[in-house]
Amino acid sequence: MNKGNKLYEGKAKIIYETKDKNLVIQHFKDDATAFNNLKKAKIEGKGVLNNRISEYILNNLSQSGIKTHLIKRLNMREQLIKKAEIFPIEFIVRNIATGSLTKRLGIPDGTNLEKPLLEYCYKNDELKDPLISKEHILSFGWATENELRYIDRSTLRINDILTGMFRAIGIKLVDFKIEYGKAWNEESGKKEIVLADEISPDTCRLWDAKTEKKLDKDRFRKDLGNIIQAYQEVARRLGIMPEETNISEVNFGKTIPIKFKKK
Ligand code: TMP
Ligand code: ASP
Repeated sequence: MNKGNKLYEGKAKIIYETKDKNLVIQHFKDDATAFNNLKKAKIEGKGVLNNRISEYILNNLSQSGIKTHLIKRLNMREQLIKKAEIFPIEFIVRNIATGSLTKRLGIPDGTNLEKPLLEYCYKNDELKDPLISKEHILSFGWATENELRYIDRSTLRINDILTGMFRAIGIKLVDFKIEYGKAWNEESGKKEIVLADEISPDTCRLWDAKTEKKLDKDRFRKDLGNIIQAYQEVARRLGIMPEETNISEVNFGKTIPIKFKKK
């Protein structure tokens, strides 16, 4: 699939046109940002890992009946996806209190939540993605009541599936952020809601089940080091990367040979 013009560049990804008006290419960059762009870095190899991890997770969700934008991975950094009109909402699910929840409400870090907590944030960099309520979404027409009902149900189901998937490899799914969009469905000849964007250690908090070691972007946010090693560990446990990889770790300068498993 030939890459056309750049349609959009975000903090960690670029979207390119294709010849098909309903399909675009999603390119994973190595750039990392935190705290709404206040902190920036290039983390060599991150894009490659997130591309693989997100492909694996979305394919798994798809097998469980979740509709996603992913058509197929094209290469180390790119995926062919359905072009989607993204809802301007970040859907966050929390199983364990940490991050902004603890700061906002003073809930002790690491508190197990009795049931998954669903939060909405308005996707707007200038406003720093503020927390919003369902009423804001309905009031400003960012999604309809039916769309929100469908997305909420899908989001909690995704949490169930991913919690089990990560538990099986000794990882606690602490929280995550997902996005949805409306994309054209060839078969039905209508637009439908699909899971969009990515699911990766950039968008989830993943703790080792035994040691509670952080295996996600908090290593960057909190300057904990070994960022790439943590992402590689997630990929290795998911079975999509063997013991050895060649992604050099900028912080540690360690380069190991790459061997991705064939599909
Ligand atoms: P928070 O505790 O900082 O609100 O983050 C909750 C979850 O959402 C966490 O898994 C990280 C993820 N997240 C993103 O993917 N993008 C963002 O811009 C933010 C703020 C959080
Ligand atoms: N992605 C957001 C940013 O760039 C926040 C985060 O992930 O912490 O700033």
